[in-house]
Amino acid sequence: MTVTADMAISLDGFIAGTGVTVDNPGGHGAEPLFEWIHNLASWRERQGLTGGAENRDSELMREWFDATGAVVMGRMMYDTGEEFWGDNPPFRAPVFVLTHHPRPTLVKQGGTTFTFVTDGIHSALHRAKAAAGQRNVDIAGGASTVQQYLGEGLIDELQLHVVPALLGAGLRLFEGPGTGPQRVEQVRVVETPLATHLKYRFVK
Ligand SMILES: NC(=O)c1ccc[n+]([C@@H]2O[C@H](COP(=O)([O-])OP(=O)(O)OC[C@H]3O[C@@H](n4cnc5c(N)ncnc54)[C@H](OP(=O)(O)O)[C@@H]3O)[C@@H](O)[C@H]2O)c1
Repeated sequence: MTVTADMAISLDGFIAGTGVTVDNPGGHGAEPLFEWIHNLASWRERQGLTGGAENRDSELMREWFDATGAVVMGRMMYDTGEEFWGDNPPFRAPVFVLTHHPRPTLVKQGGTTFTFVTDGIHSALHRAKAAAGQRNVDIAGGASTVQQYLGEGLIDELQLHVVPALLGAGLRLFEGPGTGPQRVEQVRVVETPLATHLKYRFVK
């Protein structure tokens, strides 16, 4: 069982723009972070669509889907993604949403459930590990959530999809108590015209 985090990030270190709201899920200027994903065959497949590009980026996305048995995310990521993901969200796995405000569990089509966890990051990870079987738990975002797991040393592997764009402002990934100093080993680098995919393992 590996605990992963997989984030699209700008060259200047932002994982979302400024002014994130439900109506502006990625924040201002964040289009380059996500637009490379939308035409990938593996992503389209998970949206119930056909076609799209069968390229290395698509393979990496499929690798993530195949490897991930449960997901942890913050309530902000959930709220900003919910409408876009629709009735058959792409996760097809149990999702544990961190929040301070209890909500009933939501059962969606295709195997995705959203369970709202109010007793902290360790509890959410524990529940996700129990649900993931032999597969990985992915800490999916957003910034605040990944920072807390990084700060506690609970992430084994971090994959960054570095998009060739500068955002100038927004939500930074590497910020906050405990995100550094930490040592990492480079596991893999995949370079495509769309993004540079960097995978690291934390040295414990
Ligand atoms: N670039 C990427 O790959 C990527 C990936 C995912 C998300 N994102 C972006 O990230 C942004 C959201 O990130 P964010 O940092 O604002 O928020 P977030 O981490 O998604 O969610 C923060 C919320 O989660 C809950 N939470 C976090 N830690 C908690 C804890 N220890 N205990 C209880 N509840 C906790 C709180 O919800 P309550 O207020 O309900 O208590 C908090 O307000 C969005 O713009 C999204 O598009 C980007």
